[in-house]
Amino acid sequence: MHTLLLNAAEPGAIEEAARIIRNGGLVGMPTETVYGLAANALDAKAVAKIFEAKGRPQDNPLIVHISAFEQIRRLVKSVPESAEKLAKAYWPGPMTMVLEKSDLIPDIVSAGLPTVGIRFPSHPVAQALITAAGVPIAAPSANRSGLPSTTTAEHVMRDMDGRIDAVLDGGTCGVGVESTIVTLASDPPRLLRPGGITLEQLQAVLGRVDVDKAVLNPLPKDAKPLSPGMKYKHYSPKANIIIIQSDEKTFADFVNSHKAPGVAVLCYTGEEKLVDVPAVCYGGETDYEAQARDLFEALRHLDDIGAKTVYARCPEPKGVGLAVYNRLMRAAGFEVLKLA
Ligand code: TXA
Ligand code: MG
Repeated sequence: MHTLLLNAAEPGAIEEAARIIRNGGLVGMPTETVYGLAANALDAKAVAKIFEAKGRPQDNPLIVHISAFEQIRRLVKSVPESAEKLAKAYWPGPMTMVLEKSDLIPDIVSAGLPTVGIRFPSHPVAQALITAAGVPIAAPSANRSGLPSTTTAEHVMRDMDGRIDAVLDGGTCGVGVESTIVTLASDPPRLLRPGGITLEQLQAVLGRVDVDKAVLNPLPKDAKPLSPGMKYKHYSPKANIIIIQSDEKTFADFVNSHKAPGVAVLCYTGEEKLVDVPAVCYGGETDYEAQARDLFEALRHLDDIGAKTVYARCPEPKGVGLAVYNRLMRAAGFEVLKLA
């Protein structure tokens, strides 16, 4: 299959992408978080192609994207007050709400679960595409399963060229990590995946919000997490990533004494001057927003420079830092070295 590269800024591009979606095809779609692999959420056959193109396990459900709040009503059984409040505060934006699904949602979208994740993205191109398609859009991140999510159209092309109908180029994603997922189908609500809307922001609206174990910890083998995606190896570049917990100087001393071919670092901006091995930076030490924005690009870049062993700095699990921590810990397979 030839994959069309469409520039969202050019006239007719969004309409062309919308036509592909209506006809049951797949389009790489920019959102403010990461690129999505978009299909008509109400067309089970089209959705099946997403799983095929990504190599995604069938038991991992998809998020459904809308372009106006009212569109949620026919997709879920009921809209609780908590959902109205969250939507008012953070939609459109990088937050997905899990609610009991309506019969309109095909089982393949929810992977057989009684619930569905709904998101109203803030990216103008995503909104325009959903509106032009005239249907809700199912979209997982537009990466091959297991690889880091994609934050540019070029990355989508690299993973998906020849496997999907088109990529709609809308520039680089601003948030850089996938949306926050909160389930309102549990009482109290539960954070399933941290993202650009922080736990603290959810708590400000909802009061008590529990944090699912899978957010901070590796899952025991054979566990059945509330969010099926948590059990899969994720965000993994080819290189072996090891998180170093220490201060900056101890980190630099450790790395410099482990210099060898294939050794590289993932560090905070400015620290590249302290180390004697190839360094990829991803934002300042406490600039969690910059870290989130640059993380996946940095992970892909480490593979590009041929890194085999990567010593990484990882932020505190607070604010947007929780999302960065969650992704990087998974990329490292939870391999952490604590240095005094
Ligand atoms: O920012 C995002 O959310 C991006 C963009 C494209 O919108 N999408 C995204 O989709 O990250 P994906 O499929 O890569 O991640 C969705 C996660 C998976 O871990 C999945 O298991 C979980 O959401 N999920 C989806 N539906 C769910 C449900 N009904 N209950 C619990 N978890 C669900
Ligand atoms: Mg994904």
